Amino acid sequence: MKALLAGSVCRLLAVSLVMSATSLWSAPIPGIPDGCATRCHRSKARDGVVHGPVASDDCIACHNPVGAAVHPKQQGAFRPVAKGAALCQTCHESMASKRVVHPPVGGGECLSCHDPHQSANPSLLKARGAALCFGCHDAAAFSVRHGHLPVTTGECLKCHDPHQSDSPRLLRGSGAALCFRCHDEKMAAGRSIHQPVARGECCDCHNPHGSSFPKLLRNAYPEALYLSYEQNDFALCFTCHSRQMADDRRTDTLTGFRNGDNNLHYLHINKPDKGRSCKTCHDAHAAPQQRLVKERIPGFGSWDIPIRYTKTDTGGTCVVGCHKPKSYDRLRAVSNP
Ligand code: HEC
Ligand code: HEC
Ligand code: HEC
Ligand code: HEC
Ligand code: HEC
Ligand code: HEC
Ligand code: HEC
Ligand code: HEC
Ligand code: HEC
Repeated sequence: MKALLAGSVCRLLAVSLVMSATSLWSAPIPGIPDGCATRCHRSKARDGVVHGPVASDDCIACHNPVGAAVHPKQQGAFRPVAKGAALCQTCHESMASKRVVHPPVGGGECLSCHDPHQSANPSLLKARGAALCFGCHDAAAFSVRHGHLPVTTGECLKCHDPHQSDSPRLLRGSGAALCFRCHDEKMAAGRSIHQPVARGECCDCHNPHGSSFPKLLRNAYPEALYLSYEQNDFALCFTCHSRQMADDRRTDTLTGFRNGDNNLHYLHINKPDKGRSCKTCHDAHAAPQQRLVKERIPGFGSWDIPIRYTKTDTGGTCVVGCHKPKSYDRLRAVSNP
C-alpha cells in the first residue's frame, strides 16, 4: 500500500514536470536551436569559465539538434552527438597520441575532470590543484613528514601533464631535466659526478613527492657531521654500497680508502662518539675533486676547512687546512707522522 502510494506520487510528480516542460517548450522559440542558453538553460553559461561553444550558444555542436517538436519528448534529441573523447575531438586534437596516456584520458573520461559547459575553475576543471587528482589518487600517500614544496602546494601540474607525455609517469621532463626546471644543474657538475646523478636518476635517492626522511631522501642519512657510528644511520648509501666498508677495521678488498689493509673509512666513520659522516668528505652529487671529495669540508662554526685531495694509482694524499699532508697507499702502507 505504501509502495503503491509512493509510486503514484512519483508518477504524479513526473507528469507535472513533463507538463511544465511541455508548456515551456510548446511556446514557439524562434531560431531554435539558437537561444538555448539565453532563453532557458541560463544556468549552463553563468560560471567564471564558460566553454567556447557554450558561450556562443552553439549547443548543437555537442547535442543532437532539437526539431520543431518539444525536445524533452523527442527521441534522442539533445543527447550528446558522440560519446567520450570522440565528442571533444570534433574540435580538440587527440589527447592520447603520446607514449604515456593517463588512463582516464585514454578511456575517454574527459568529463571526470572537465565540465563540458562551464566551471568556476580554470580550464573548465571540476576541482582545483591537487584536489582534482585526489578524486582518484590516495591523498594520504602525499602527506608525509618532509614534503616537497611544489607537492604540498598542490602544484602537481608543474611536474605532470594531466593528459599525456612522452616521458614515463606523465612527467614534463625525463630524469634530471625535470628537476633542473627548478633546481640549479650546477649541483650535478664537477670533476667527479656520482654515477646515479650523472645518469639523471635523482629519484633513486629522493622521493619527488616527499619522505619521512629529511631532504626527501628515500632512506636514512645523517644531518649531523659528527655522530656515534650506527650502520642504519647511513642506510641510504648502503642500499648501493657495501655496509662492511665501514665495519671491518682491516680489509684488502672492501674499500680503496685504506693504508695497506688499514681501513680508513672505518677509522674516520666507525667511532663511538665523534665518527664522521660521509658528507664531511663526500658530496652526494658531484665534486670538484676526484672520488666526490669536496673542496671544502665543513669545519667548526662557519669556518670551512679547505681540502686538497690527490688520487694516485694505489692511494692518495689529503692536504687538509693547516696541518700536514696525510697519505695512504694500498700496496705499501705509508707511515704518516
Ligand atoms: C562541448 C560539448 C557541449 C556543448 C557545446 C554543450 N553541451 Fe550540454 N552536455 C554535454 C555533455 C557531454 C553532457 C552530458 C554530461 C554528463 O553526462 O555529465 C551534456 C549535458 C547537458 C544537459 C543535461 C545534464 C546537465 O548537465 O544538466 C543539459 C541541460 C545541457 N547539456 C545543456 C546544454 C546547453 C543549453 C548548451 C548550449 C548552451 C550545451 N549543453 C552545450 C556537452 C556539451
Ligand atoms: C564545437 C567545438 C568544441 C567541442 C566539441 C569541444 N570544445 Fe573544448 N573548446 C572549444 C573552443 C572554441 C575552446 C576555446 C579555445 C580557446 O580559447 O583557445 C575550447 C576550450 C576548451 C578548454 C579550455 C578552457 C579554458 O578556459 O581554458 C577545455 C578544457 C575544453 N575545451 C575541453 C573540452 C572537452 C572536455 C570537450 C568534450 C566534452 C570539448 N572541449 C569539446 C571548442 C570545442
Ligand atoms: C585527470 C584529469 C583530466 C582528464 C581525464 C582530462 N583532462 Fe583536460 N585538462 C586537465 C587539466 C588539469 C588541465 C589544465 C592543464 C594546465 O593548466 O596545464 C586540462 C586542460 C585541458 C585543455 C586546455 C588546453 C590544454 O591542453 O591545456 C583541453 C582542451 C582539455 N584539457 C581537453 C581534454 C579532453 C578532450 C579530455 C579527454 C580526452 C581531457 N581533457 C581529459 C585535466 C584532465
Ligand atoms: C578520474 C580518475 C583520475 C584522476 C582525476 C586523476 N587520475 Fe591519475 N591515474 C588514474 C588511474 C586509473 C591511473 C592508473 C592507475 C594508477 O597508477 O593509480 C592513473 C595514473 C596516474 C599516473 C601514473 C601514470 C603512469 O604511466 O604510470 C600519474 C603520474 C597520475 N595518474 C597523475 C595524476 C595527476 C597529476 C592528477 C591530477 C591532475 C591525476 N592523476 C588525476 C586516474 C585518475
Ligand atoms: C617535483 C615534481 C613532482 C610533483 C610536483 C608531483 N610529482 Fe608525481 N611524480 C613525480 C616523479 C618524478 C614521479 C616518478 C617517480 C618514480 O618513478 O620513482 C612521480 C610519480 C607519480 C605517480 C605514479 C605513482 C607513484 O607514486 O610513483 C602519481 C600517481 C603521481 N606522481 C601523482 C602526483 C600528484 C597527485 C601530485 C600532486 C599532489 C604530484 N604527483 C606531484 C614528480 C612529481
Ligand atoms: C616546480 C619546481 C620544482 C621541481 C620541478 C623540483 N623541485 Fe625540488 N624543490 C622545489 C622547491 C620550491 C623547493 C623548496 C625550496 C628550496 O629549498 O630550494 C624544493 C626542494 C627540494 C629538496 C630539498 C628538500 C628539503 O627538505 O630541504 C630536494 C631534495 C628536492 N627539491 C629535490 C628535487 C628533485 C629530485 C626533483 C626532480 C625529481 C625536484 N626537486 C624537482 C621546487 C621544485
Ligand atoms: C646518491 C644519492 C643521491 C642522488 C642520486 C641525488 N641526490 Fe640529491 N641529495 C642527496 C643527499 C644525501 C642530500 C643531502 C645532502 C646533505 O645532507 O649534505 C641531497 C640533497 C639534495 C638537495 C637539497 C640541497 C640542500 O642543500 O638542501 C637537492 C635540491 C637535491 N639533492 C637534488 C637532487 C637532484 C636534482 C638530483 C639528480 C640530478 C639528485 N639530488 C640526486 C643524495 C642524492
Ligand atoms: C642508487 C645507488 C647509489 C646510492 C644510494 C649511493 N651510491 Fe655511491 N655510487 C653508486 C655507483 C653506481 C657508483 C659507481 C660505481 C662504484 O664506484 O661502486 C658510486 C660511486 C660512489 C663513490 C665513488 C665516486 C668516484 O668518483 O669514483 C663515492 C665516494 C660514493 N659513491 C659515495 C656515496 C655516498 C656517500 C652515498 C650515500 C649518500 C652513496 N654513494 C649512495 C651508486 C650509489
Ligand atoms: C675522511 C674522509 C671520508 C669519509 C668520512 C668517507 N669517505 Fe668515502 N672515500 C674517501 C676517499 C679519500 C676515497 C677514495 C679512495 C681511493 O679511491 O683511493 C673514498 C672512496 C669512497 C667510495 C669509492 C669506493 C671505495 O670504497 O673506495 C665510496 C663508495 C665511498 N667512499 C663511500 C663512503 C660512504 C658511504 C661514507 C660514509 C658512510 C664515506 N665514504 C665516508 C674519503 C672519505
